[in-house]
Parts: sequence; structure tokens; C-alpha cells
Amino acid sequence: MTAAQQLQERLHQHFGSKASIESLTTEDRMGRRIHGLDLTKSLQPAQAALLQDLLDDFQIISFPSQDSHGLNVHHVERLANHFGAPIPHPSNFSNYGVPVHEMAAKTAEHQAIAKIDAAFPGAIACIEGADTLATYPVNNLSESGPDKEEVLAAGQHWHTDIEFEKVPLSTSIFYVQCAPQTRNAPGGTWVTDPGHEPGFYHPDSSPGLEAARMALPLNGETAYTDTARAFAALSPSRQAELEQVQIRRRFRKDDDGWLVPLVYVNPRTGVKSLHSPIWASRGKRVAPAQVEGMTDDESRHFLDPLEEHVLQPQFRYDHVHRPGDVTIWSNFSTLHVAPPNKKVINDPADARLMYRISCKGAPSYELPRPDTDEWIEHNITPPYRSPLT
Ligand SMILES: [Fe+2]
Repeated sequence: MTAAQQLQERLHQHFGSKASIESLTTEDRMGRRIHGLDLTKSLQPAQAALLQDLLDDFQIISFPSQDSHGLNVHHVERLANHFGAPIPHPSNFSNYGVPVHEMAAKTAEHQAIAKIDAAFPGAIACIEGADTLATYPVNNLSESGPDKEEVLAAGQHWHTDIEFEKVPLSTSIFYVQCAPQTRNAPGGTWVTDPGHEPGFYHPDSSPGLEAARMALPLNGETAYTDTARAFAALSPSRQAELEQVQIRRRFRKDDDGWLVPLVYVNPRTGVKSLHSPIWASRGKRVAPAQVEGMTDDESRHFLDPLEEHVLQPQFRYDHVHRPGDVTIWSNFSTLHVAPPNKKVINDPADARLMYRISCKGAPSYELPRPDTDEWIEHNITPPYRSPLT
């Protein structure tokens, strides 16, 4: 029996005969669509373990049509608890960054969802659970409305989320409510790319790297690249060299930070990937990654060719979002980037609204998670546990 057949059999065993698995591109690449599951139902431990195995094997797993089951954001947060401890999103606090005991959650009228609901009343309203502290509504609605002038925004830089924390995010989840429907841009796409402002990336980058960074999708897709497959494609001697490299992780330029290996090893599968920042010349607001023993310039010259390698088309996958999709990705074996976007819209058909929940730490196949208070206090800011009832 092939590995694919074994997986299909496990899916049938744990989720019934209607469950099936489909490649998002081709069988040898990351990404699978899992059909026939109803994520409103609690997962049994063996079911949660199977979903974690699928994520470990395929980096991105997507579950279509969950809206047809009445899935809300509370269900998504419960699901997230199996993959890691959900973290509260900074944007849900009015004063994030002050000492934790002084942090205050935003009042209802200041939450993003109040602004989203006000954009096109009667046409788009946030679904239940969108206001939990762990939920970040990725959207282009909070400044939008029928009388507004459309505004385009460039894509962001390639990254993994919150890689600078001591325990970085393991997993992120999108639940899609609205995906842009119009294709009015020249070329038949949703948008044209307005391009980054000068200085977004370091001016030293090679033309090949610049081109790879700029090749972003134009229909609101999230672009991903597979850093496990990219690592596996390197020569054994290059792999051995990179496994010796330590990266200094830090949040701000003047932080001392701490060292972590450039190469991450998945503790469940042994698969190696590039997880620590390999993008030395990141967006302006983020501290550059530094290779231990090298200056910023030397680090950039060391890391840029690696970034160019990882961003090659054979490792890339641009995920098309569809309303009702729950899409889960591993932050340890992918990079991703937010695409060029209409950030202010006047037509609800241009709406892009997805609820993101991210989590960290080890998976837990049983709920509630067994995280100790001490672990939560050290790794979740501010300390948070999902209400699971
Ligand atoms: Fe991100």
C-alpha cells in the first residue's frame, strides 16, 4: 500500500467513508485539501492526531465548505487548541506592549469587527466568535464603504509569523468568510501590484532575489513557499553547513536576542526545514536577522542566496481562498506573504475577510490542553487560555 493509500485509509477509519484527500497542486508538493469533514464537531484524540500528521506531512491543509456546517470562529479556536496554545492578537488590545497586568482588551466599539460590520451594512457582518481575543480578522473592510475611493496596497515581505519569540508560532489557521470576486484589473486579475515603496527591501539584493520577492499573486491569494522541500533540495554538504549555523533572533534592533539553529527539525517526523529568519533584509519595522559570528552585511550576503533558493517557483504555492475554507499551515516549514490588496473598497464583491488564529507549543490531541500556568505565563502575552465551553 502506498503512503497516499495509507493516509486515505486512515481518513476513512477516523472520519468516515466520505472523507477524501486531494492535492492542492501535485502529489509531490505541499498542500492538501481534505474533503468530507465537519469541523463543528469535537475531534476525538485519534482524529486530532491524524490532522496533525497531515499537517506535518503536507505543511498546508485546507478544509472546504465549513460554512455549510455552520462553523463559527469559536469552533475554529477549539480546533486551534489541538495544534498549539492560541495566542491573543495584539490588535485586540488598546495598549498592547505595556506590562501585562495593565493590558486592556478593546471595547466592543473599538474592535475591528465593529468597523467591519459598518462597511456594508446588510451585506457583510462578522460571524459569531469573531470577537475573541485570539482572533485577528484579516480584512479590507474597516476603512471601506459604498462611498469610499478604492485604495491599493502592495504585498508584504516573506516571513513566518512571530519567529522572533522564544517559542515561535507553530501553526496558523485562516477561516475565510469573504474572498474577492471581481477581476477588473488589466490582465483580468483582482488587482494590479502597486509595488513596494523604495527602501522596502535592502537595495543590495540581487536582481534574481528582487524578482522572486516581487512575484506575488494578484487575486488575493496567500503565497507560501516550502522550506522543508527547499532544504531537502540542497546538496548534502550545503545541508551539513547550514545545520551548523546559528541565528540571533530578536524583536528590535537593540535587543540582545538569543541564538537558535537555522535548521529546524520537526520533533514528530525528523523532517528538516529552514525556519529561523532567512530573510536578512526584511521590512523596515523588523530587526534584520543576524548569523552568529557575522556582521549585518555579512549575514545578508550569506542569507540572500538562501532566500533566493527558497523562493524558487518549484517550492512556491499560491493558495486561492474560497469562502468557507479552513486552511491550516505550519509556520516551521513554510514562509508566506500577504498579497497586493485593495485595502479600501467600495464594492462588497471586493471584500477579503478571513479570521486568523495562531498558536504555539506542542500539539494536544485531548482538550483542554495540559499547558501549565507557568508555561502560559512565560510564552503567551498576555496570559490566555481559550474558553472551550
Ligand atoms: Fe504572516
